[in-house]
Amino acid sequence: MLNNIPIVNKLSKDYSKKNISEILDSEGLIVIQNTSVESNEEIISLAQMVGLTELNIDEDLSGPQVMIIKKDPNKIKPNQASTYFTSDFFPLHTDLSYVINPPKYLLMQCVVEDTNGEGVSLLSDCSKSFNILSSHSKQNLMQQKFIFPNPPNCKIGENIFPIYSINDKVFRLKNETMKCPKEFQPALTEFIEVLKNNIVRYLLKKGDTIIIDNHRLVHGRTSFQSETRKLRRIYSAERKSCL
Ligand SMILES: [Fe+2]
Repeated sequence: MLNNIPIVNKLSKDYSKKNISEILDSEGLIVIQNTSVESNEEIISLAQMVGLTELNIDEDLSGPQVMIIKKDPNKIKPNQASTYFTSDFFPLHTDLSYVINPPKYLLMQCVVEDTNGEGVSLLSDCSKSFNILSSHSKQNLMQQKFIFPNPPNCKIGENIFPIYSINDKVFRLKNETMKCPKEFQPALTEFIEVLKNNIVRYLLKKGDTIIIDNHRLVHGRTSFQSETRKLRRIYSAERKSCL
């Protein structure tokens, strides 16, 4: 299980591409402290260091896409994927769970921290939780039977995936919106309980950039009141080896 969060200070000798890649491979996440929040430049260069920022998830998008995550009730429109603008509790989930190839890495940089200590990141390791399930539950969660509806503004209605794809080594979860066949519900419930019991919490400080392996970990967030809390988010795809 995740016991604690690996942290590297950008100004320390431990900060190197090799060290960060090794920590991501072994732990599935890392926090880099003291990154520059002045512009999008630093989070983009970190995303390009760990993977590729050209994702081809949406044909309308090109180049690195940095999203600002900030409470803004005016931007929440009915029937739209507008979760970036809420301050609600987010249960554990995989980002872009409904696409065929969810981005390998999710990076979030804290630009303005929450001085009330709210909006705490929740992280849980799917691979370690999955390993302690019964073989029956594992088999069920590997069935391609779980329905992941696309957001209402997408053209295609839904996709069907396993919770764990052994071929792609991808976990995916979005319990609030996904549909689970009745016979697989006990395995899914058991898996989510184990994930919840092994949550690690981390409060992002200004200049922290957290990099999460989105194929292996699920993440969430506690609710917050702050009107000023502000994060940047970017995705990064896996750089496949040619060997
Ligand atoms: Fe998310």
